[in-house]
Amino acid sequence: MKGVTPEVIAEVRGRANLLEVISEFVVLKRAGKEHRGLCPFHSEKSPSFHVNPEKGIFKCFGCGEGGDVFAFVQKIKKLEFIDSVRDLAHRYGVQLVETVEDKADYDRRTGILMLYQQAAEFYTRILSDPREGMIARDYLKRRGVSDEIIAQFKLGYAPNAWDGLLRYLSTATKVSQSTLEEAGLVRRRPDSNSCYDLFRNRLMIPIFDDQGRVIAFGGRTLGDDQVKYLNSPETPIYTKGQHLFGLHLARESIKQRDCVIVVEGYFDAITAHQYGFEQTVATLGTALTERQAKLLVRYTESKRVYLAFDADTAGERALERGVETLNLIAEGVGIELRALRVPGGKDPDECLRSDGACGGPAAFEAAITAAPLLVYYQLERAIEKIDLKTHTGRIEAAKQIVPILAQIKNSVGRGEYIRQWALRLGIREEELLSDVGQYRRRQGMGLAPRSQSASPALKPGVLKSGHLEAERQLLALYLTSREDHRVVSSALADEVLIEPVHQRIKDALDGIGSQFDTAEDLQYKLMDRLAPDGEAAGVMVDLVLKVEEIRKQKAPVGVMLNEGRARVLKERLIRAKNQLRGLMGLAGSENEQNALSSKISQLLQLESSTLLSARTEDEINDVRRKISEILSDKGQFKQLETTA
Ligand code: UTP
Ligand code: MN
Repeated sequence: MKGVTPEVIAEVRGRANLLEVISEFVVLKRAGKEHRGLCPFHSEKSPSFHVNPEKGIFKCFGCGEGGDVFAFVQKIKKLEFIDSVRDLAHRYGVQLVETVEDKADYDRRTGILMLYQQAAEFYTRILSDPREGMIARDYLKRRGVSDEIIAQFKLGYAPNAWDGLLRYLSTATKVSQSTLEEAGLVRRRPDSNSCYDLFRNRLMIPIFDDQGRVIAFGGRTLGDDQVKYLNSPETPIYTKGQHLFGLHLARESIKQRDCVIVVEGYFDAITAHQYGFEQTVATLGTALTERQAKLLVRYTESKRVYLAFDADTAGERALERGVETLNLIAEGVGIELRALRVPGGKDPDECLRSDGACGGPAAFEAAITAAPLLVYYQLERAIEKIDLKTHTGRIEAAKQIVPILAQIKNSVGRGEYIRQWALRLGIREEELLSDVGQYRRRQGMGLAPRSQSASPALKPGVLKSGHLEAERQLLALYLTSREDHRVVSSALADEVLIEPVHQRIKDALDGIGSQFDTAEDLQYKLMDRLAPDGEAAGVMVDLVLKVEEIRKQKAPVGVMLNEGRARVLKERLIRAKNQLRGLMGLAGSENEQNALSSKISQLLQLESSTLLSARTEDEINDVRRKISEILSDKGQFKQLETTA
């Protein structure tokens, strides 16, 4: 955020008293260096909300919410970052010299919000226009969407014209074309100075923030446009992956029914609401982000999450990626993940609207009731294609299920599953038990039993699975000491992290360079820089906690560094492979096909041979180089270089 400089933020942070600010909303009790209380962001009966004034952070180990003093004020008062700075500056007597840009920034966001509200009103009005809105109303009628739902979701219609909205907003608000362009509502023609409507002849579905303000649109084509759903671009008020479609309408019901259903599509959510499943939200066809996962569990006490995804392969992948994210934040929360298999292999929208044995609300309800724990579903899927009648098949199956069984946190539940599966595969229970135990030890799972007094921070050193953890370990290593910082920043100088939020933190670290005194000083400087970036600020809290654990652990920095890098590299390999596999479908000629499949097998070879043993810096750099060599071929594969 321009204007509010890190210096200003540091000044306000320095004067604000975190305990005082939080105590206004939470009754805190002292426990060692920390203070604890009942979390104000979710309902709970025993205190899992921790405040550490020394580090300047709070963290709820129940719902995962955490941050610094600004984050707390933002969340509790529902303010934008900049207004949380204003609020605290005012309270603690810091003269905020607001720059012109600052004010302009704020005004711009407010302006864009207003434009979206007016655009939404325009689209709903056109929808109800007897003549202009007819196509869309007919469409909605064919899909069986009720008037009540149309009103609730504020559905609209973008007319089949190049300048319907443009003309309306220009007259109604006197706003310039370039502002509308920045707002992502119109586009500029490349070779002239004029603009045209982004959404034409589309059914308009507004996306709301959690306060119910329109911040973006999805537009479904009603014609023969190639793009089925056109979505608003990111703007100063809208960042993809930070919102869940339908959450503002689902919130009450999620609380009441103490569960949440996650679907993929706009209409899956809309139809679910119409049929009384108001606890439904949609991810809009992409994998859950951490931010979304946190939003999800904030409103349920049991933390029961039903993941309903289409039974196609893309849907399955999304499901699996959603699981990874949810598991990551499930640390210490105990989310109950269930796989909702929509009857008839349809999407929830189609299922709810059809009748017969596998359709209609009753069938959907039955599917919810019958939804197995996700673990169960994963186990079944892992062995789906294996022939259990053969000896080798059963051995293979046992190998496949070990990592899944190892994930089960509850040891009684885990034992039960192990017993069942040993029986099913005709192997000895003790053997399976020992494999799972070994796997858990290797992955550092469930090492220290969590006591009330120990900080339930992330476990250090031994990496949990997943590149997310690995990247966090790398980032935390920057912050442990000056010496570690030197080693890590030179080793990672030209590394690009996979998760965007992690890369943003790395950028901030690179920006600070060696301009800091102690490691603590660096932590604060980094927090000041990242404070405006809500997601990064949240991750920062976990890093600060992780730093403490790493220090206690006293593992050599080089070992942890290489361990983290190797894991990130492995993910990169997997992604490169998947990307090439995706391209296989697009390759036209046989030559292209062959070139691609040769690359894939090179990657596979690399994966099985080198990477598992790559532990030294040279080995890691070598694998990195090989991957980019394989991918950096000329010709039609050029696009790979940027992404892999
Ligand atoms: P689907 O293709 O499964 O569409 O995409 P759907 O929701 O079943 O749509 P209908 O029923 O044909 O109207 C699932 C979600 O992926 C996103 C949208 O959010 C969509 O709801 N998507 C899909 C896009 O953003 N753009 C597209 O072109 C397609
Ligand atoms: Mn559909």
